[in-house]
Formats: sequence, structure tokens, C-alpha cells
Amino acid sequence: MSSSQTWLAGDVDAMTAFGAQLARACQGRGVIFLEGDLGAGKTTLSRGILHALGHQGAVKSPTYTLVEPYTLADTTVYHFDLYRLLDPEELELMGYREYFHDQALTLVEWPERGRLLLPEPDLRLRLAEPPAGGRELAVTAVTARGEQILNELRNGG
Ligand SMILES: Nc1ncnc2c1ncn2[C@@H]1O[C@H](COP(=O)(O)OP(=O)(O)OP(=O)(O)O)[C@@H](O)[C@H]1O
Ligand SMILES: [Mg+2]
Repeated sequence: MSSSQTWLAGDVDAMTAFGAQLARACQGRGVIFLEGDLGAGKTTLSRGILHALGHQGAVKSPTYTLVEPYTLADTTVYHFDLYRLLDPEELELMGYREYFHDQALTLVEWPERGRLLLPEPDLRLRLAEPPAGGRELAVTAVTARGEQILNELRNGG
């Protein structure tokens, strides 16, 4: 059984603010899958998380390099974008397991593409654009730690 909750981010600022709440709720640790179509807002949310954790520069989808590491004051964030992953073997070759450890926050855009290899996430976020605009964020806890993060989010991060 898993618990979930849906939020609405009406514009990019709301998305950034949600990213900041999520950064606080998880204290910069965990594995979060970001699902949703092209343009659903996965990178925008990742940017919000990274800026809240102290990263000051740009945040782009690492479409060609597959992963971008960010060494921050209190944690390390690994931002994956697996959109262009053709063969799971590429993940093996890059030693992907090292990017999933207790002391880091690992964000994965397009996790479906690495489904056979990736470890289970703590949280799964599904982003979608509802007809009324903005973005809907459906957050599902997968692990016990994910449940804690979801509860923190319910309390406002
Ligand atoms: N809550 C929001 N309301 C309205 N527009 C948004 C919201 N969040 C993001 N956007 C806009 O949606 C567009 C796509 O966002 P983004 O690049 O984050 O999507 P993505 O899911 O990472 O796409 P891709 O799968 O191509 O990596 C951007 O123009 C961004 O400004
Ligand atoms: Mg993206």
C-alpha cells in the first residue's frame, strides 16, 4: 500500500516554492523519481529544489550526459535525465549505483527509461498539465522514508 497526495502549482513560482518545500521536507536526502511528459515541469521542480539547497547557478536537464552532480554545502544532489537512455547498459557503464546513497539526494527525470536497473525511489512525483493550466503534482510515498517526507510536505515542508 502506498499513500499519495496531489498538489497544484499554478505557475513557475509556485513550482519553485514547492521544490523548496520538498528540499526541506527531505532534508536534502533521498531518491525521488520525477515522471511526466515532455514539458511537464520536472526540470523546473529540480531547479527549485537545487536553489533551495544553495545551488546558485543554472540547472539544465542533463539530457546528453545523463547525470549532473551538484556538490552543495549540506549535501550532494545527483540530477538524472534518462530521456535519451537507449540501453540500460549505459547506466551500468557510468556506474550508476554510486549515485544512489544515503548522503545524497538523487532526482531522476524519465525514470521509466531505466526501470529495469534503478533502485526503488522513496518518492514518486507525477507531474501533469491540467486543462486549467499550471501543473498538478501527484506525490506517492514508496518507502517508509518516503512516508516521512510526504508527511513533512503535508505539514508545509
Ligand atoms: N507550475 C507551472 N505552471 C506553468 N508552467 C510551468 C510550471 N512549471 C513549469 N512550467 C513551464 O513548463 C515548461 C517545461 O518545463 P520543464 O523544462 O521543467 O519540463 P520537463 O518536464 O523537465 O521537460 P523534459 O521532459 O523535456 O525534460 C517551461 O516553460 C516551464 O516554465
Ligand atoms: Mg527536463
